[in-house]
Amino acid sequence: MIPLSLTQISEITGGTGDLIADYCATVTGPVVIDSRQAGPGSLFAALPGTRADGHDFAAQAVAAGAAAVLAARPVGVPALIVPDVPAALAALAAAVVRRTPGLTIAAITGSAGKTTTKDLAAQLIESLGPTVSPRNSYNNEIGHPLTVLRVTGQTRYLVAEMSARGPGHIAALCRISPPRLGVVLCVGHAHAGEFGGLDEVARAKAELPAALPAGGVAVLNADDPRTAAMAGATAARVVTFGRSPAADVRAAGVVLDEAGRPGFTLCTEAGSAPVRLRLHGEHNVGNALAAAALAGQLGMDLAAVAEGLSAATARSRWRMEVTRRPDGVTVINDAYNANPEALAAALSALAAMARGGRAFAVLGHMTELGAQAGERHEQAGRQAARAGLAGLIAVGEEAAPMLAGAKARTRFKSAHPGRCAARPPAPRWP
Ligand SMILES: Nc1ncnc2c1ncn2[C@@H]1O[C@H](COP(=O)(O)OP(=O)(O)OP(=O)(O)O)[C@@H](O)[C@H]1O
Ligand SMILES: [Mg+2]
Repeated sequence: MIPLSLTQISEITGGTGDLIADYCATVTGPVVIDSRQAGPGSLFAALPGTRADGHDFAAQAVAAGAAAVLAARPVGVPALIVPDVPAALAALAAAVVRRTPGLTIAAITGSAGKTTTKDLAAQLIESLGPTVSPRNSYNNEIGHPLTVLRVTGQTRYLVAEMSARGPGHIAALCRISPPRLGVVLCVGHAHAGEFGGLDEVARAKAELPAALPAGGVAVLNADDPRTAAMAGATAARVVTFGRSPAADVRAAGVVLDEAGRPGFTLCTEAGSAPVRLRLHGEHNVGNALAAAALAGQLGMDLAAVAEGLSAATARSRWRMEVTRRPDGVTVINDAYNANPEALAAALSALAAMARGGRAFAVLGHMTELGAQAGERHEQAGRQAARAGLAGLIAVGEEAAPMLAGAKARTRFKSAHPGRCAARPPAPRWP
């Protein structure tokens, strides 16, 4: 964090000091919400959690060296008391951005692929200058300010991930750190239950392009009509990416290697260059194109982008994470957080990676789909069947519709209704 005194933090957050002996004490960061990560110069934000209340760990944070605690009530150690700790974090993050005029901010949103794209983009942009990007999926009203608060006087780029569970969420994140560049990946069914439907999801994601300034750049997916239509919702210049020939940044000649890793020719108005991704699954082509478009707009040349993409690794775990067991079995863990589009992508990657072997899918239930949950799980079962699996194991609350969907398409026979479907006689791959 850029250094701020407790007086400054109190002014920024409107916090009232309690037991603070030295208001000149400086917070240099990090700002943490886990007392075990507190150290000299840090600020501990006490948040109520589902299992524990951060206020109970305030003394531990100060004992570890935290300069003070941001808290909703007195905690027996030096604290700034504020009515709303997340709002105070947001105010503090916004103040850090205001004090860092040389910072270029890029934000990424969409229903699937934000973390993957953010990780790819960060690996490219880090070659241009000191870059801060979220750990894992820090993308909401807590994670985003915590990410912004890692910005220092040396930071040149902030690559932010922005999520929404309702209208106004992305606009609020954009107010904390006004982006000059914004990427929208796609509009899909993730959280669609909470929003009401895809049009509502699209309206929420469009808050990012709407927040961009006239001198900014909106990077939009040309292959997703709801996302492409956001060109009309922004004052910024529009750059498109996708497989469509009309896209400004596109992939030609996509092929998958034996491990399902895509190779393609990256085409832009500056020319073309070969890319071989280390990530598994064809869906990562779109994520890579979005990252390439972003890096290109920041001045990175095409050859460097193509090389950077080919060298980039999966930084965040449990997204198409591949483990090869000594006995020859390959395990693909894509269990981070599923939604219908992510599951369809994973099944298609599984089919591509099995290449004559036997493939099994273990599918759990996808949350936050609202009234569409049954239908979407049945569709997932149908997709699993179409992927030519040797077996499908469905677990959890929505196992029954998944099995029903699978059985409607194949000769799978359920061995344990509601839990498991047995294999068809002979595996065949398309
Ligand atoms: N372009 C894509 N299309 C479909 N599925 C994708 C795409 N990119 C990633 N996925 C899959 O979506 C899931 C989540 O990926 P990732 O964490 O990158 O997305 P996210 O948008 O950050 O998710 P969250 O909303 O949970 O933060 C993983 O299963 C991943 O394999
Ligand atoms: Mg994420």
